[in-house]
Formats: sequence, structure tokens, C-alpha cells
Amino acid sequence: MNDDVRKYIYGTLTVFVVGILAWIGFLYVNACGFTLTCNRGALPVERTPIPTLIPATLPAMQTTTGEVAVPDQCHVAAVDLIGAWVGAGSSETDVFQFTDINGHNCESTFEEVKPLFIEGNLWYSGSLSCVSCHSVDVAVSPAQLDLSSYAGIIAGSRRADAESSGTDILGAGNWESSLLYEFISAIHADAPGHTEEIADLVIFAGKPIPEPNQTATPIP
Ligand code: HEC
Repeated sequence: MNDDVRKYIYGTLTVFVVGILAWIGFLYVNACGFTLTCNRGALPVERTPIPTLIPATLPAMQTTTGEVAVPDQCHVAAVDLIGAWVGAGSSETDVFQFTDINGHNCESTFEEVKPLFIEGNLWYSGSLSCVSCHSVDVAVSPAQLDLSSYAGIIAGSRRADAESSGTDILGAGNWESSLLYEFISAIHADAPGHTEEIADLVIFAGKPIPEPNQTATPIP
């Protein structure tokens, strides 16, 4: 009688232990397959995504002939870029020249002037584009001025209708006395869109004019 009880107890314990081992084995094989080198539970290695060993000082760019390379874009105040275009006769296609803020002689075309009137968020953070007010429809555009195209800019302001020209905003080629310069460089408290200082914008535009006999600065 006593022996029987013992048998039951041992039997139950054995079944229990074997069951647990089988379950652990099942989980292991399920996760890792039949291998003894399973590392799927290991912690992932954390690596910083940014390489930290970039040299802090890069040498000046040099061409193969030892000359210091000319940068491939010029750096100019937007007002001066428009001014150079106006001073050179404000052509739609002709190349005009200007001197950038680093003293390079540069050239550009109207293609690079036009976006200054069309792009928003450009003159300062959150600024409206000029065309958002001075749009193609001169009937509703403030000062009846259409800055959306070359033809519109040339036709000027205070136009009676889409066919006629109005006041020349380019000062007949004299930039500093033009209405355009006046409304870009100065604040007009009474005209919405002209109540903020916008003349400070400096942009990358134009290409340096290659100077064949530029003296190379030797790098020590
Ligand atoms: C929020 C609308 C608005 C924006 C944006 C705007 N303007 Fe104006 N602009 C006006 C108003 C209003 C006047 C004054 C109209 C008047 O006096 O009848 C004006 C006047 C002018 C004039 C003078 C025209 C004249 O004959 O008196 C010029 C030039 C001009 N704007 C150019 C620009 C340029 C360039 C930009 C972009 C940098 C610009 N405007 C952005 C509303 C705007």
C-alpha cells in the first residue's frame, strides 16, 4: 500500500521533470535550430551611426597643377545680383557680370534673378514670395505690378491693363534710383509685404569667370 503511493509520487515527479525539459528543448530548437552556438538572446551591439574619425582640418582644395581651385559658385547679396542685372541692361538671356562678396569676378543670367521674385521663404524665414502679391493679374496685383515673368517685370507698375506698360521699376538701368531697389532695400510701413527688412539676403549664384593668368598661391 505504502509502496504504491510512493510509486505514484515518483511517477508524477518524473513525468513533470521530463515534461519541463522537453518544453525547454522545444523552445530552444524552435528559436535557434539544432545548434549549440545560439546567440540570439545576446544584447545587440550599439554603434554610433556617425563616424567620429573625420579629420578636423581638411587641406585646401588643389588642382593637379598645384593651383588653388576656384570655387564653382559665387556668393553675392541678392540685391546686388539684381542690381548688376539691371545695370547691364536687364536682358532676358544675355550674360551679365558682377563682383561677388569675396571679390571674384562672376557672371550670371536672368535665370538666377527670376527665382528671387518667385520663391517664398527666401528673403527671410517665412517670407511670402513677391508673386504671391504681385501676381500675373494686374487687375488685383498691388501697384498693378506683375513680377511673375520677365515681361511683367519689364512692363513695370501702375499698369492700366495686361496689354499696357506702366512705370519703369528698373530706374532705366540706374539701379540705386529704381523703384525696385527702393522697395527691396527700404521698409515701407504702409505697404503689406514691405514692412520687414529684406535687403540682407546673401545667396550662392553665378559662376566665377576663369582668369587664365591667375597667380597660384603656393601652399607651404
Ligand atoms: C503682402 C503683399 C506683398 C508682397 C509679398 C510684396 N509686395 Fe511689393 N507691394 C505691395 C503693396 C501693397 C505695394 C504698394 C502698392 C501701392 O502703393 O499702391 C507694393 C509696392 C511695390 C513696389 C512699388 C511699385 C510702385 O509703382 O509703387 C515694388 C517695386 C514692389 N512692391 C516690389 C516687390 C518685390 C520685389 C517683392 C518681393 C521681394 C514684393 N514687392 C513683395 C505688396 C506686396
